[in-house]
Amino acid sequence: MPRLLSISDPNAITDAVRLLAAGRLVAIPTETVYGLGADACSGEGVAAIFAAKGRPRFNPLIAHVSSLAMAEEHAVFDPVSRGLAERFWPGPLTLVLPAREGSDIHPLVRAGLPTLALRMPHGAARDVIQALGRPVAAPSANRSGKVSPTSAAHVARSLGEAVDLVLDAGSAGVGLESTILRVGEDRIHLLRPGGLDVAEIEAASGLPVVAVGEGSAIEAPGQLRSHYAPDGAVRLGARSVEPGEWLVRFGEEAVAGEEKAAGISQLSAARDLREAAANLFAILTELDRPDIARIAVMPVPDHGLGMAINDRLSRAAAPRHDMHDADAFIREED
Ligand code: TXA
Ligand code: MG
Repeated sequence: MPRLLSISDPNAITDAVRLLAAGRLVAIPTETVYGLGADACSGEGVAAIFAAKGRPRFNPLIAHVSSLAMAEEHAVFDPVSRGLAERFWPGPLTLVLPAREGSDIHPLVRAGLPTLALRMPHGAARDVIQALGRPVAAPSANRSGKVSPTSAAHVARSLGEAVDLVLDAGSAGVGLESTILRVGEDRIHLLRPGGLDVAEIEAASGLPVVAVGEGSAIEAPGQLRSHYAPDGAVRLGARSVEPGEWLVRFGEEAVAGEEKAAGISQLSAARDLREAAANLFAILTELDRPDIARIAVMPVPDHGLGMAINDRLSRAAAPRHDMHDADAFIREED
């Protein structure tokens, strides 16, 4: 069982911050549900979230902030989104916004998307984020496919030793995940209904809130796909390199033809899946260049985090795949 610490314990916040800053996982109570938190700027920490949840693939995570100023460092706010944040934060509202260039949030948090989901939670969670001084990435603190936890005991049962510390603040007040929105031109897209009532959002913004799928053109799949998949063709399971291909290594073993490679990137020299997960999106982004026409990726073992890595790689290799449907994200049990 993981360590449980009441938020009324004088060491609770400092212990949580020390662990997060070291790339470890801390379950934090928010008003919606308990979150499985990691330092959003730590690739190791964020990769550990996916490992602990046993997610078969990388879904983008919500970055939790302690102030609007912190949020604005990492995403670009339009006036309507800013108005909603001022009105409903801290609270059960998540806004999906264009990520800001130069943000040091790890690319794994966005799972390679050009947008970032942001929320400011109430209470102890906000205190932890403020003390850390950086956003905390946190999905609901349950194993993939299970219900979201609303108590510390529930988290401990679901995740066990995978989490280093569980901060206990009793049962979550809202008990339902946050409402997720993306503000559009003349309407607001509802990506996930949740703890904040749609009627309140319509009243505050004066705009209609429409569910994704009701004819909304949000997240045009092609647009997102091109961000995920590099410009060049991707070949998986490569055990040799053709002249002019860019080699993406996993491990240090010799690869036939590597001296003729256009260049080499390394997912993890030590063949550590957590490290590879942390490097994956940064590498895919770096290789998204018009002068890199062909990319050969060495085989990555298909277990644990390797399954999520291979899922993303196969999507990058097959851009026709219907994967960036925003709907697909929210339908999936997280
Ligand atoms: O109340 C909540 O929202 C809780 C607490 C811990 O904050 N968190 C939570 O996280 O429910 P999670 O990971 O279980 O669900 C987040 C949802 C996922 O469906 C994910 O696909 C979606 O947010 N999401 C995250 N970033 C996104 C993005 N850039 N675009 C579209 N959807 C996004
Ligand atoms: Mg969830």
